[in-house]
Amino acid sequence: MKNTQKFPSNFYWGAATASYQVEGGIEKCDWAKAAREGRVPPCGRACDHYNRFEADFDLAKELGHTAHRFSIEWARIEPEEGQWNFEEVEHYRQVIQALKVRGIKPYTTLWHFTLPQWFVDKGGFENPNSPEFFARYSQFIAHELGSEIEDLTTMNEPIVFAGLGWLKGNWPPFKQFSLVGLKEYTNSGDRSMSRPQKKFWAYFTYRKVVNNLARAHNLAYESIKAVQPQLEVSLVKHVVAFDANWNPLNKLRAWIEDQFINHIFLRKVHRHCDSFGLNFYHYVKFGNRPKYEHSDMGWEMAPAGIYNALQVLWKYKKPIFVSECGVADHNDSHRAWYIEEQIKGVAKALAEGIDIRGHMYWSLMDNYEWALGFDKKFGLIEIDYDTLERKTRPSAWVYKELIEKYSKVE
Ligand code: BGC
Repeated sequence: MKNTQKFPSNFYWGAATASYQVEGGIEKCDWAKAAREGRVPPCGRACDHYNRFEADFDLAKELGHTAHRFSIEWARIEPEEGQWNFEEVEHYRQVIQALKVRGIKPYTTLWHFTLPQWFVDKGGFENPNSPEFFARYSQFIAHELGSEIEDLTTMNEPIVFAGLGWLKGNWPPFKQFSLVGLKEYTNSGDRSMSRPQKKFWAYFTYRKVVNNLARAHNLAYESIKAVQPQLEVSLVKHVVAFDANWNPLNKLRAWIEDQFINHIFLRKVHRHCDSFGLNFYHYVKFGNRPKYEHSDMGWEMAPAGIYNALQVLWKYKKPIFVSECGVADHNDSHRAWYIEEQIKGVAKALAEGIDIRGHMYWSLMDNYEWALGFDKKFGLIEIDYDTLERKTRPSAWVYKELIEKYSKVE
């Protein structure tokens, strides 16, 4: 009998990180400036992953990982407008090589939230020319590094970036839409620290930013393909899975939220995506709400809801890789269960024919959780920020066992 739990033999397993959150020493970007102004916590040397990536990838290999998602820091590559730093290109070439020699497939993201200061000084993604700047950077990386990788993601969670920067105002550039108390589906921060400017028209600026982000992705896609047509180009989308009981009003509410958070943006970019990365953290049911425990982020823990999120993305019929899915759990008491449930959700979607290529847990190691600083512990590997010592958490070994179990051929 066919084992429906079996994953395809070429399925990739691993974990994810992002440059600013782990590397350390990134100064020429908007988050570093905001930290100097006391509006977000300082990031400093973070996990010093910039210097320790080889040892960190040794740990990933020991944990059975066959894929790793990381991001390139735009501010390192183009610290001033139009000036390319080739030493930093070499650094990321070494990162890619270090993964490949360990048998770990690199999933590379071009931009994960932090922006070069020169770009922000020109208005960032409010600037009508921002898509061209982003596409130029994307093409440069594709040209320099594209022949060494197979997959390239343009951007991470554009709607989270725009929502927290222009509607909630907890992230740079700290603009807050003054009319509504928006429901929060992702990271937050401390308002007294970020000191957002309340503006009625922030909503309209938000819409402009969202449109520029979509155009930036689409243009980057074309610019990458012009120099490396073989690269599989994707966008990573944060999908909130909305569900409802029988009640038609609840169904309508779930549909509206699904449109607003998920589909409005996806419709603008899906024709320029060879595949999608899925970042999954939230399952929300309207009516007959089950009771869930909360993670250290205060988020309901409903990892099996990844199945519903995969269905949302599958509407566009593009291959999907799980680019992030994880839990903040400082004493590691829920993580093993959480990972097992999320993998079961992926297995269910696979069995129904959804084309899923890989699964990357967030995160390989503890890191800088944006406006919340270093307190939230998402890592399979614990970091002691005083000594920078790495300690593998017990749940990381459970993940390894699950990888072995689900990869097993009958
Ligand atoms: C982001 C990560 C973040 C994680 C946990 C995702 O939204 O891509 O940068 O650390 O969620 O909040």
